[in-house]
Parts: sequence; structure tokens; C-alpha cells
Amino acid sequence: MDNLLQLKNVSKTFGEVSAVHDVNLEIGTNEIVGLLGDNGAGKSTLVKLITGYHRPDPGGEIYWRNKKVDHLSVPKARELGIEVVYQERALADQQSLWRNIFLGREISNRWGMLDVKTMQHETQKLMHTAMGFTSSAVTSESVVGTFSGGERQGVAITRALYFKAELIILDEPTMGLSLSETRKCLDFVASIKAAGKAAVFIDHNIFHVYPVVDRIVVLDRGTVAGQFMKNELTLDELLDRLYRVAQTGSLENNQGATR
Ligand SMILES: Nc1ncnc2c1ncn2[C@@H]1O[C@H](COP(=O)(O)OP(=O)(O)O)[C@@H](O)[C@H]1O
Ligand SMILES: [Mg+2]
Repeated sequence: MDNLLQLKNVSKTFGEVSAVHDVNLEIGTNEIVGLLGDNGAGKSTLVKLITGYHRPDPGGEIYWRNKKVDHLSVPKARELGIEVVYQERALADQQSLWRNIFLGREISNRWGMLDVKTMQHETQKLMHTAMGFTSSAVTSESVVGTFSGGERQGVAITRALYFKAELIILDEPTMGLSLSETRKCLDFVASIKAAGKAAVFIDHNIFHVYPVVDRIVVLDRGTVAGQFMKNELTLDELLDRLYRVAQTGSLENNQGATR
């Protein structure tokens, strides 16, 4: 599988705290990678390294499509096609659906004025195709604050796909969602795979991660404690290994991922 993103020996320390330590991680083109780990394992820090928010400590390297990226910044990451979907702050609650889709990337006409008609029309199309809104109660003018958590995640993911994201990072998108909303959110993760794109899906619930990912990476106290191709392990076997990681912080058998 072709590499989309590769981290080599990436570390991040904050003063005395080693949040991420010597991480080697590859994300393939059109691969969905589940990143699991307890609170404080370094998941969000890893995300911030991938999105250019944090610089790795000296010695760490980041590659995009096998080319070294020397100074990954937030705008640079976005230019490469890396998008993050956060549980909070994902959407502007008071604004309409179409405004949210085009937030910060509005379409203008040739006189430099907002092309509201086109944006509404595009949104309407996306609602029926990508977002799967079937209720006639929801229109491109609907205010996003009234949507369920799962629908909101769908809007954020659809927006990322619409703007040609290559790698979508979801940092605990199911947090605080109800069961049915979670299901909807997982469907959207699956739609990233179907669209031919890649994702890093962070969650601490293995039952959310397992069904939608190709590979699972376990982070423990800042280091990669193990990784598994999903099709090499049943859910029971995986649970057993995770339990072992939780107890010992590592796996004797963590070279198992063949790619
Ligand atoms: N900006 C920061 N300054 C200092 N410490 C931080 C900062 N960000 C994260 N940390 C610390 O790094 C560790 C990993 O945090 P984080 O990446 O948020 O973990 P996770 O997302 O897996 O819960 C924690 O001990 C956390 O307190
Ligand atoms: Mg976190």
C-alpha cells in the first residue's frame, strides 16, 4: 500500500512531560487507521503533530507521499489535504447548513461577491448524496445548532470530503453521542473509505473503532505499544491484546502488522 503519511521517530515533550515518544507511524492511501489509547496516552498530541499545530522535537521527521515535509504548519497541512474533525468547535451553531459547509472557503462570483445560490445548491446536493439527510424538515438554510451530534459529525466530514481532504483525522468524534448518533458517525467514517480517502479515527472505545478501520494502532504513554491489521485478529483476540497492553504497557507480539 502506498504511504500517504509517515512519521519517523517523532517525539514531543512539554517541559518535563514526554507526551509522544519516538513514534513511527504510517498511514496508507485509502487506509482507515484506528488510534486507541487511554486518556493521556498522547493521541491528541499526535494529531496536533500531524496537523502542523505542534512541531516535533528535533530528530523527528514527517513525510507526505514519501516526500519529507520540513516545516509542517497548520496552513501547510491543510494545503496537503489534512483535515481534522473535532467533536467540539466543528461547526458554527448559529449559522445555516450551507454557511457551515463553506465556512472559510466561500464561493464568490466574478465580481467578488458571495455566490449564495451556488453554495445553497451545492449544499442541497450534498445533503442528499453524502450526508444522507432525507427529512424535508432539513434544508440548506437550517441552522446547524438544531442537528443531532451524529448529523453534526456528518456535516463536518462531508465538508472535509467536499474540499478534497486526503486524510481526515477524527479525534474522539463519538464522545457524548447517543448510540444511534454514534452509529451514524461510524457510517460517515466508512464513507471516507468509500470515497477513496484515508482517516485516523481516535476513540477509546474499541467497539466503535473495530468495525470501521483497516488497522489499529495502540498508543500507551506516548509510544506505540502495538499495531494490528484488523483482518488478522478477531475482536475477542484484539480485546485480549488490549488488556495485555493495559497491564504491561507493551506487547511481545507487536510486529504482527504486515502491510
Ligand atoms: N500543551 C501541552 N502542554 C503540556 N502538557 C501537555 C500539552 N498537551 C498535552 N500535554 C500532556 O501530554 C500528555 C498526552 O496528552 P494528550 O495528547 O492530550 O493525550 P490523549 O489525547 O491521548 O488523552 C498528557 O500528559 C498531557 O497532560
Ligand atoms: Mg485527546
